Amino acid sequence: MPESITLLHVSDFHFTDETLLLRKLIRKEGLLSKRIAGWVNNKMNRSGHCQTETRTRLIEYLKQADWDYLIFSGDLTTLALEQEFREARKQFESLIKKGPVIMTAGNHDRYVRRAIDPDLMTQTFSDCFPYNQRSSPDQGIRYLELGSTAVLFEIDMACPRFYLSARGKIQSDLKAMGAFIADNYRDRLKLVVGHYLAFLPQGQKEGLLHQLADIKRLQQFLLDNNIDLYFHGHIHNTWQLTDPVKGRTISLNAGGCCRYTNGPWSGFHKITLTGNRYHISRINLSSSA
Ligand SMILES: [Fe+2]
Ligand SMILES: [Fe+2]
Repeated sequence: MPESITLLHVSDFHFTDETLLLRKLIRKEGLLSKRIAGWVNNKMNRSGHCQTETRTRLIEYLKQADWDYLIFSGDLTTLALEQEFREARKQFESLIKKGPVIMTAGNHDRYVRRAIDPDLMTQTFSDCFPYNQRSSPDQGIRYLELGSTAVLFEIDMACPRFYLSARGKIQSDLKAMGAFIADNYRDRLKLVVGHYLAFLPQGQKEGLLHQLADIKRLQQFLLDNNIDLYFHGHIHNTWQLTDPVKGRTISLNAGGCCRYTNGPWSGFHKITLTGNRYHISRINLSSSA
């Protein structure tokens, strides 16, 4: 009987400090800080993108559910403030005790330069970046074997950007990663987690300042290396797509899991790996909770 592994994929929890007053933030950061613009934008436009009640219900669900790995594809916070990471840690504590939680950072987790010196996300969640690291000319290849038939790679894409930009940048060495896969994991199920999308559903558009700068390189990497599943967030919807070229790599977006309480975009995915096959099913909390 082949082993069976269950993954749940969630993203974009966007913890905020609801008690934080704008004048206090201005005093601390200065009027021109990107965090000020982010605070205002969150109050005016983005608060509905992550509903606290939906997030709380989702976390309660995750505490009860059966899973072997929980994958979080970035944007844990909103302004990358210490208090946001602290709150996120508190909320994740029992999940981390329950099983391996595997993360990558989103643009909001590295919102300003100050948040990466030191990197607040990997510091607060050091146990959620359990990747093996292989040195390469850039940042290294980060990967984790999931049982004996699958392997998960992280592509780091988040870095601080100027005021209006949410653009991502690939910071992993994809060439070295591709060679490493060919040498070691050609026959395994190959999974990748990153924050930014690789493929958009037909008819949807993404603004230039919101997308991954080298998106074509990401697409090429996923296709050339026969990646089976690509987990991401960033766009606050939920979808499952096959790539338009080979019709093979499936890209899973969990960015909408705290945004919608019902309708076709609510919920997220559960992935069951059995031997070197996978099965994807939808979890919709509004119908199952
Ligand atoms: Fe997000
Ligand atoms: Fe994002």
